[in-house]
Amino acid sequence: MSETRSSLHGEWSSGMIFVLAATGSAVGLGNLWRFPYLVGENGGAAFVIIYLLCILLVGLPIMIAEITLGRRGKRSPINSLRSVALEEGRSANWALLGWLGVAAGFLILSFYSVVGGWALSYVLQSLLGTFQGITSDSSTHLFETLVASPFSVLGWHTLFMLLLFGIVAMGVRKGLQRAVTILMPLLFVLLILLVGYGMAASGAFQEAMAFMFQPDFSAVEGGTVLTAMGQAFFTLSLGMGAIMVYGAYLPKHESIPHSAGWIVGMDTITAILAGLAIFPIVFAVGLEPGEGAGLVFITLPIVFGEIPFGYLLGLLFFVLLSVAAITSGMSLLEPATSYLTERRRDGSRLKAAAIISSLIWLLGVACGLSLNALSGITVLPGMNIFDSLEYISNDIMLPLGGLLIAIFVGWRMRLSSVVGELGVNENGALFKLWLVVTRFVAPAAVILVFANATGLFEL
Ligand code: PFF
Ligand code: NA
Repeated sequence: MSETRSSLHGEWSSGMIFVLAATGSAVGLGNLWRFPYLVGENGGAAFVIIYLLCILLVGLPIMIAEITLGRRGKRSPINSLRSVALEEGRSANWALLGWLGVAAGFLILSFYSVVGGWALSYVLQSLLGTFQGITSDSSTHLFETLVASPFSVLGWHTLFMLLLFGIVAMGVRKGLQRAVTILMPLLFVLLILLVGYGMAASGAFQEAMAFMFQPDFSAVEGGTVLTAMGQAFFTLSLGMGAIMVYGAYLPKHESIPHSAGWIVGMDTITAILAGLAIFPIVFAVGLEPGEGAGLVFITLPIVFGEIPFGYLLGLLFFVLLSVAAITSGMSLLEPATSYLTERRRDGSRLKAAAIISSLIWLLGVACGLSLNALSGITVLPGMNIFDSLEYISNDIMLPLGGLLIAIFVGWRMRLSSVVGELGVNENGALFKLWLVVTRFVAPAAVILVFANATGLFEL
């Protein structure tokens, strides 16, 4: 195969489309649902600061490494790792890192789709006007009833997976690219409208700022740091091949470092804005920030129920949440789908997508039922299926995948290949900085956080 081959799946029509697609992958439930409730549960600003450090020192360099690897390999993560490893004179066993990613994608999408389903169902609730005049108790009841009903949870989860299947089955240009060019501008407009409103209209903005930016480090434990790092990987879609496979469709000569900077910047801003839009509301209505997974679904409807234009704003918010979840979910489905497409004799992406979606759908059913019918089942100590999948994938598999990606690109690829792919000067200061961080800082940080979380330092 020649150096100039392009991916058999097709390519994005420009670098900008790649940034849009990867930003779509990054900006999702992780920003609008998970980040605010983790900040709430982990005591606020200290968590935010550790999270931002992880984004900068670990996330950004690994984002660059992962895109580099993808564009070099031009295929699914498994086959990209195998072919790049062989080209670099390394063991074909590096393909196992691709498998780790595909496995992580299965686990993540199974619970992601359940929550994506909640978002879809709340679009319907907004349309029906359910939030008008809703009390704190009835909002809690509404959410708990949804979660407790196997029929609705599974119905919405199924609809969410069907949407993803439809998009991914159509391929890179007609599916993924078309979806992001329609959905991402919509997402930006909705986000700006809502944040503008949140800042202008809420009385508790100061309190929210203090909660998010005045740290109290006494609340920080080993587990907090692992949670922050896990969230950094999760929110940037790193460590499992989603960004790698999107990178595989990036045309040559488009700058990887610039793209990575945009993606990381947009994701971080969105998470901070989500916090600044949500916490003022939480404080203003006197709710607790440590509400947990229900934060967005329980607190926001109360507000939409009482403010002027609440009907419209509520609808906008849950459409935003759904759109963000869809553009991320697509990227969770793509690594395994692209691999199976490459493996199939008939090369049918449609059939590959159908098989992978069905398997993930099935795991998602277990996940959805673990919140009601199967809630008695624990996998990890004290955690139901849903929480266990979230912990294993986000806090273990993604950082582990990211660590191995940093090691592969930093230590196992020839410098000339990396420099060629990045299109930079080998002696440039920024390149040298990136190399040092990718080789030493990022791997050391991941290893230290793992060691700390397992209590190794207390021995
Ligand atoms: N980054 C997405 C979010 O913040 O919601 C979640 C995600 C997508 C994680 C794709 C991992 C991934 F590969
Ligand atoms: Na994100």
